[in-house]
Amino acid sequence: MSSLVTIFGGSGFVGRYVAQRMARRGWRVRVAVRRPNEAHFVKPYGVVGQVEPIFCNIRDDASVEKAIAGADVVINCVGVLEESGKNGFDAVQNEGAGRVARVAAEHGVSRLVHVSSIGADVDSDSDYASTKGLGESAVLEAFPEVVIIRPSIIFGPEDDFFNRFAAMARMSPIIPLFGAATKFQPVYVDDVAAAIERAAIDGSVGGVYELGGPEVSTFRDLIHLTLEEVRRRRLVIGLPFWIGRMMGRIFGAVKAISLGLVPAPVTTDQVRQLAHDNFVGNGVGTLADLGVKPTSLEAVLPSYLWQFRPSGQYAALKESARNLKG
Ligand SMILES: NC(=O)c1ccc[n+]([C@@H]2O[C@H](COP(=O)([O-])OP(=O)(O)OC[C@H]3O[C@@H](n4cnc5c(N)ncnc54)[C@H](OP(=O)(O)O)[C@@H]3O)[C@@H](O)[C@H]2O)c1
Repeated sequence: MSSLVTIFGGSGFVGRYVAQRMARRGWRVRVAVRRPNEAHFVKPYGVVGQVEPIFCNIRDDASVEKAIAGADVVINCVGVLEESGKNGFDAVQNEGAGRVARVAAEHGVSRLVHVSSIGADVDSDSDYASTKGLGESAVLEAFPEVVIIRPSIIFGPEDDFFNRFAAMARMSPIIPLFGAATKFQPVYVDDVAAAIERAAIDGSVGGVYELGGPEVSTFRDLIHLTLEEVRRRRLVIGLPFWIGRMMGRIFGAVKAISLGLVPAPVTTDQVRQLAHDNFVGNGVGTLADLGVKPTSLEAVLPSYLWQFRPSGQYAALKESARNLKG
């Protein structure tokens, strides 16, 4: 029988690309998520019965046990960008990550790949980053041979970064930024998936890998690139972090009062993260070490940001017609 991989968070932005790659390799894929009924789109990644979403909450021992039973390899792609109810940073990224590693070790799983994040640091002032750091320590303690993957911000059709700012540009004449000078190294989602796939199947891969794309750019540069792609001119204004933290608190209070019905466009923790550069450091493995050539933003952004252009899919047609004039 073919090998079995359990992908925790296999329906998420990154997890679904990993699931596709493992299915193409002929592996049986168990996609472990809280809402398997919303993850049926992963089934056609393989032949009938090859890719199966199952219920699992990594905050719960019994469901993690069930998800891991019989698996040869485990990949943890679960993360929390914004806390919601009991799905908090610590419960998921620290305790949950440690639980997955402990159960994987107890079940004799041969390889564990854990997705963390550049900036993971137990001493960080951001809860996202500090719980990522605590999670790495917990995972290393339970499963010392783990491969830890730390991406910078990830781009691709389902991303929450370029899509969010492109959507904002459609509505607003001004784009306010906290941390306009902060540096990022955006990495393509399928390059991240290729790196995770290699880490999952190649027994010679071990340690920590930081993944970034071909270029390091400031937050402001990335927004200008987005505006170019969506063919819109907007005023980009850098705002001080203290205003960001104040707005985060106000949005947080509105969200709490509305019982979560009014989402917060920015949280205090995200503003804290934006104060730290987010690019590949020294002394760690990289995409190149995993045999992956990084894809540029310019090669991929037009394939999904066209929908935010004033004329949508007709923009290219109009531009070419304009060139024919005169
Ligand atoms: N996106 C980025 O730019 C970026 C950058 C750096 C690092 N990362 C890291 O990369 C990893 C993947 O991120 P992503 O963007 O793919 O996240 P995502 O799109 O939010 O996906 C999260 C996945 O985890 C599942 N999940 C959430 N809570 C769970 C729980 N308690 N138990 C079981 N499953 C749970 C979700 O499905 P259900 O909701 O159905 O449970 C979903 O499948 C995370 O560790 C993240 O921190 C992401």
